[in-house]
Amino acid sequence: MSVAERGSALAGCRRWWTLAIGLIHLSGAAAFAASPDWLTAHDTEIRELVGRMTLEEKVGQMTQPELGALAGPGDIRSLFLGSVLSGGNSDPAGGNGVREWTATYEACQREALETRLRIPILYGIDAVHGHNNVLGAVIFPHQIGLGCTRDAALVEKVAQTTANEMRATGIQWTFAPCLAVPKDIRWGRTYEGFSEDPAIVSELGAAAVRGFQGAKLGGPDSVVACAKHFVADGGTTFGTAPTGGLLDQGDARIDEKTLRETHLAPYRAAINAGVATIMPSYSSWQGVKCSGNKALLTGLLKKELGFEGFLISDYNAIDQLVPPTGPVSGLTGDNAPGQVETPNYKKCIEISINAGMDMVMVTKRYPEFIRLLQELVREGAVPMARIDDAVTRILRVKFAQGLLNERAALKPSPLARKAFGSPAHREIARQAVRQSLVLLKNNEMKALPLKSDAKRILVAGRGADDLGTQCGGWTIDWQGRRGAVTTGGTTILAALRKAFDAGTTIDYSPDGSGANGADVAVVVVGEAPYAEMHGDRADLSLSAEDVQTVANVKAAGLPVVVVVLSGRPLLLDGVADSADALVAAWLPGTEGDGIADILTGTHSPTGKLSFAWPVRANAPSGGKAPTQSPPIFPMGFGLGY
Ligand code: BGC
Repeated sequence: MSVAERGSALAGCRRWWTLAIGLIHLSGAAAFAASPDWLTAHDTEIRELVGRMTLEEKVGQMTQPELGALAGPGDIRSLFLGSVLSGGNSDPAGGNGVREWTATYEACQREALETRLRIPILYGIDAVHGHNNVLGAVIFPHQIGLGCTRDAALVEKVAQTTANEMRATGIQWTFAPCLAVPKDIRWGRTYEGFSEDPAIVSELGAAAVRGFQGAKLGGPDSVVACAKHFVADGGTTFGTAPTGGLLDQGDARIDEKTLRETHLAPYRAAINAGVATIMPSYSSWQGVKCSGNKALLTGLLKKELGFEGFLISDYNAIDQLVPPTGPVSGLTGDNAPGQVETPNYKKCIEISINAGMDMVMVTKRYPEFIRLLQELVREGAVPMARIDDAVTRILRVKFAQGLLNERAALKPSPLARKAFGSPAHREIARQAVRQSLVLLKNNEMKALPLKSDAKRILVAGRGADDLGTQCGGWTIDWQGRRGAVTTGGTTILAALRKAFDAGTTIDYSPDGSGANGADVAVVVVGEAPYAEMHGDRADLSLSAEDVQTVANVKAAGLPVVVVVLSGRPLLLDGVADSADALVAAWLPGTEGDGIADILTGTHSPTGKLSFAWPVRANAPSGGKAPTQSPPIFPMGFGLGY
């Protein structure tokens, strides 16, 4: 039976199964799923409201432009827009501080409240490791690090804290958590996934949903979560990416069993946890783009899994549904300006909405989208019932979040504003960093923990005093950047300096020179920041510069501790053998103190690998992924002191 057939066959049985789940109490990996009742609690009022809406008002609800592309906030009022997003590079014109973000949010919301029906917008943003577009926000470890904690309660707390920082600015919708199950670490989005193991992704993904939303939406600190990217974004085949890329946005050439057991499983858990929105993936399954696949979006997700929230398309993703016949002027999904010319845009809209997409991240061409979707409805190509279903789903989420019935929910929270970037929040991040670190090696030299009576410690490597590298992509900018990101935080070097008293001299040398006479060296190596397709890499070797830095220190004949900052396991040739101790620190974010806690031994390492660490260099193009080669450190590996 195909996905589509099974979807409709099971639709009628779903409520029965929901009951059965309660009775037999299946775990997070439950075979069946359903959105909780609170999501549909306002359906009677919604039916009445939808009955009063004009086509213009309905289509407006389904439209999400990007802040930077809005001709002016007045368009929110005149076009009845249901949402606005800030992609990775779409910031308030006046700056990136809490004040500017709050003012932007309020200005947009004001316009929405002046429409005839006074339906508020949902403002969407990628708060994927903290409220990471806002200066001064606490930046948490990326999800790959959280996966190594295996601590669902901690992941819930991290998401809760992020939600609280978001509410300080009024923003109420995060495009997180990412439920990818990355199966090839050459993918540039590997770090956005918790693990290569669907059971870990399911458990921690559901915890993140509970942290963002609360037990149900509508709490003073809750924000709407968005599980992404549905489905098998982490299962694409090497070499299938569009525009000559490697994996990102590619085609998952896997059978239905693998799709369900590996990539779908976390969505069941998230739906059971009440996730209110889901983002279909740019990628394809068996050659069909997920954003236009009715069997997946309507058959599987809405009917079979009983998802009652709404689907938001990815950034310009629907533009790819009909292959362009004209010139292509940029990568779709690129948050930077540039747009794929799609002469068949109208067809793209028709395919996607009829497949089950409820709101479209149109980003720039929103007046055109609105005009074309209205035309499609008038021509009968998109049934009004489909539009009503989409709007009903969007309004469900707005009602559940309290936006329509409790006007207080609309306002930025002064309490959250006080807690924004606070020491209490930084303490939670520090704990997350500490628990995410994985000790991979600590030989008989026992270089770790560092001795508190050391006279001189040499800290080396470009990453040691570099907050940008520590935070990775999706930090202030879409791609992140090396160097002092203009947000607060503690680098590894600064944290070590804080951790030792005046009896220990801590010197810093980016290239590892000057190690002679030191008791021990800590060398920080790894990857420069990246996001999405820009991080696809066929070769996961460390840079020659990093290998040389380790060699320079090693030549001085002292114990060497290597700390790796990276979005995935890297190939450690030339370094693993020289290192007396080796620590995977992932992309820990702003709280370097968490790294010092482990290096100095105030806390013993507890992190366990959530991905196998490959031994073999460079799988050939299209060949076996490095994760499939025998690992140097298996999944679950992690030493203590
Ligand atoms: C990414 C999404 C993100 C969206 C909005 C896309 O390019 O694939 O993960 O939520 O941009 O910034």
